[in-house]
Amino acid sequence: MHNVENLTEDIFWIGVNDRKTQRFENYLPLDKGVSYNSYLILDEKVALIDTVEIGTSESFLEKLEGVLGDRKVDYLIINHMEPDHAGAIKDVIRLYPDIMLVGNAKTFPMLDAFYDCSKERCMNNRMVIKDGDTLELGKHTLNFAMVPMVHWPESMVTFESFTGTLFSNDAFGSFGSLDGGIFDDQLNLDFYEDEMRRYYSNIVGKYGVQTQNAIKKLSGLDIKCIAPCHGPIWRTDIAKVIKHYDAWSKMEPESEGVVIVYGSMYGNTEKMANSIASQLAKEGIVNIKMYDASKTDHSYIISDIWKYQGLIIGSCSHNNAVYPKVQPILSKLQNYGLKNRYLGIFGNMMWSGGGVRGIQAFADSLRGVEVIGESVEVKGTPKPADYAKLEAIAIAMADKLKEVRK
Ligand SMILES: [Fe+2]
Ligand SMILES: [Fe+2]
Repeated sequence: MHNVENLTEDIFWIGVNDRKTQRFENYLPLDKGVSYNSYLILDEKVALIDTVEIGTSESFLEKLEGVLGDRKVDYLIINHMEPDHAGAIKDVIRLYPDIMLVGNAKTFPMLDAFYDCSKERCMNNRMVIKDGDTLELGKHTLNFAMVPMVHWPESMVTFESFTGTLFSNDAFGSFGSLDGGIFDDQLNLDFYEDEMRRYYSNIVGKYGVQTQNAIKKLSGLDIKCIAPCHGPIWRTDIAKVIKHYDAWSKMEPESEGVVIVYGSMYGNTEKMANSIASQLAKEGIVNIKMYDASKTDHSYIISDIWKYQGLIIGSCSHNNAVYPKVQPILSKLQNYGLKNRYLGIFGNMMWSGGGVRGIQAFADSLRGVEVIGESVEVKGTPKPADYAKLEAIAIAMADKLKEVRK
């Protein structure tokens, strides 16, 4: 069967790659695409684990029918109701009208809310499972575990204990289409680790405590393969992906380095950012990621903020407030409760300010963020005395990073 891959003899990847959709959840850029991974288990009973986004349904159904031949799907396991996985449910139940839908108490109200399936025959075929319940397929056994808020309240994962395969849905997922290989040992992981962090930090980032709970809950399982609903399937270096998720959900930085993000209308705030970056380099900081917030989508900036310990934010003033391209980054970080970071603040003004004041208010609202050095606000182009103050922020940040260097 074309573009169907085996996880084991009886478990198939029948997912699809989406390289067309511009933005995930209609706001996060998919420059390198995304995959919607769906899995099929053939046994005495046939189970389909999750579906795909509606726009990719045709290719998915072709694979599903291709693998099944004359057989029917007995169970559809609905691990998550977000439409990137639930989008093709209606298509599946039309093809297999006697299918049993398997979800938890929070799944079905969402199913009824998203899709009017009242005319479908199988809509009463509902198996409501609870945390710890199992479902026998033959030699394969499905074990269900609730992982609320990773990524929605109804989210759950399915562990198949015969093969040790964890169908983790959004957990351990990544942006990036699967261009050929689907397993971690077939892929260049540098790319996927970045896209996995961008996915985690922007989508699940707010729910670190719930992700920690999920990791603890799953730690007792003998997992031989992690099969998420986006991106690579992990069968060789499972420890790596769990380690990442553990650190990201604790908001622990991965590396020594500094993200400088700024918003600049006429170039003066940019000059200030350049001065800080240059001094950081002189102090021996190697990882310096500088972003013009007007150019780079916020999701890439947030991902690097998750990666590095240091964060320096600059904004010109705009209508007595933070520049409109910087403000959404602050709002998202505030909403997520950023912690374990050192923060430097700078900005520019002409009459009443507002940029630096807004960043300071952001800093004050976060308990886990330590402001480093004195905030610097310049009127127009920076003068020599201003550059000295900006360099002082860089020196204080570098000193702090060296102090906590492991
Ligand atoms: Fe989701
Ligand atoms: Fe998803």
